[in-house]
Amino acid sequence: MNEDLSRRNFVVAAGAALAATPAVAANDKIQIGWIGTGARGMHVMNMMYKGVPEGVVVTATCDTYAGNLAKGKDQIQTLGKNTPKTYVDYKELLADKSIDAVFITTPEHLHREMTLAALAAGKHIYVEKPLAHTIEEGAELVQAAKKSGKVVQVGTQNRSNSLYIKAKEMVAKGMIGEVHYVRAFWYRNSLPDNPAWRYNIPKDTDESNTDWKRFLGDAPKRAFDKQRYHQWRLYWDYSGGISTDLLVHQTDITNFVCGKVEPLSCMASGGIYRWTDNDDREVPDTLSAIYEYPDRFHINYSCYFGNVQFGYGEQFMGNEGTIEVLNRQQLKFTTEKFAGKAPAHIAARKDEVVDLPGNDVNAVQGHVRNFIEAIQGKAKLIAPIEVGQQAAVSGHMATLSLRNNKKVLWDTKTQKYRFVS
Ligand SMILES: NC(=O)c1ccc[n+]([C@@H]2O[C@H](COP(=O)([O-])OP(=O)(O)OC[C@H]3O[C@@H](n4cnc5c(N)ncnc54)[C@H](O)[C@@H]3O)[C@@H](O)[C@H]2O)c1
Repeated sequence: MNEDLSRRNFVVAAGAALAATPAVAANDKIQIGWIGTGARGMHVMNMMYKGVPEGVVVTATCDTYAGNLAKGKDQIQTLGKNTPKTYVDYKELLADKSIDAVFITTPEHLHREMTLAALAAGKHIYVEKPLAHTIEEGAELVQAAKKSGKVVQVGTQNRSNSLYIKAKEMVAKGMIGEVHYVRAFWYRNSLPDNPAWRYNIPKDTDESNTDWKRFLGDAPKRAFDKQRYHQWRLYWDYSGGISTDLLVHQTDITNFVCGKVEPLSCMASGGIYRWTDNDDREVPDTLSAIYEYPDRFHINYSCYFGNVQFGYGEQFMGNEGTIEVLNRQQLKFTTEKFAGKAPAHIAARKDEVVDLPGNDVNAVQGHVRNFIEAIQGKAKLIAPIEVGQQAAVSGHMATLSLRNNKKVLWDTKTQKYRFVS
């Protein structure tokens, strides 16, 4: 058997069996194809080179905007010291049999078709959150991934953040007592002339260097629009807005820390409160969502793009104490004081603050490393596709509730939602 064939067999076996496979030979690199080198793709790739310097080689990259395709190629040359093949059509990249795994870091509405095609082509996949654009699409991906036996990691990197891992251990140890209530929030602000999510549109963007048809994918057909292309988060055809861009991270990590899976119901409210003049944005800049879970558990979620005083975080509010993880870089543990008369077993616990500035960078590196090690059979995946779907379900429920002005109920057994009439 030649070396390439034996390496590929190893990788395939690792995908099917996960942890039990023997370690890969030191010089066996996982061959990577990268799909989407926009803001997130470039960052995650950079983190991959830092986090798994010896384990990977990016042999191909794909993007439908020529400027970002060139940036991706350049970064691979600089950090990987090799020249990748470049593609505008991701299907051509997937046809390369030497590629073991792909990263899908494209807009939300493309995750379904790309993940299905990558599974059909026999690739392992790291797909950014949210898993897909609707609940039904995500369910389809979970089924396809199960059948394929491939390793699929979803980009909810908070699960690889040491502070959330510590929070999970503390909750499991009973440090905050019973936990029935979590507050989660993400606040941002910018000046009136710098509207949220109106990211920079490269000056040269036009139809000659931007494959609009491939960007649209299965989304409704419409004429070329560079705002929609580069600022896709603002439009329902491509994004769930706050629900699937930000909230899913926070319901996901609440599930992780508190051992929860899916909510029973969601009631959301909000709207576009800022940038209402000459702006065709469709997704809200203001969102509150209330979740009920089985076993008497509640998430109170809040997001607003007009005040950043309270930043970003989750507050796990136990009956005997609170764990706050703030801005992904600080953990604060505070015991309940009961007007200064805490029972001795609670008073004995020491309040604590752990500061790890910039810890999200370590989390992304750890998340990618976990993906590569899972392919190699050395680690168990921390955010497998089912978990990515569970996080996405709560995000989509918030969008459904908001857009239909109704409470949404979720049935875990049938994996279906319905509105309260
Ligand atoms: N995990 C996190 O913390 C995190 C943070 C930011 C973004 N994200 C996720 O990453 C994904 C990408 O977001 P982004 O901010 O990088 O968006 P972006 O617009 O900056 O990048 C998307 C890239 O995909 C390219 N693209 C579009 N259609 C394509 C196609 N058919 N084939 C190949 N390339 C195509 C675009 O040209 C662009 O380069 C989204 O799912 C987003 O939710 C995750």
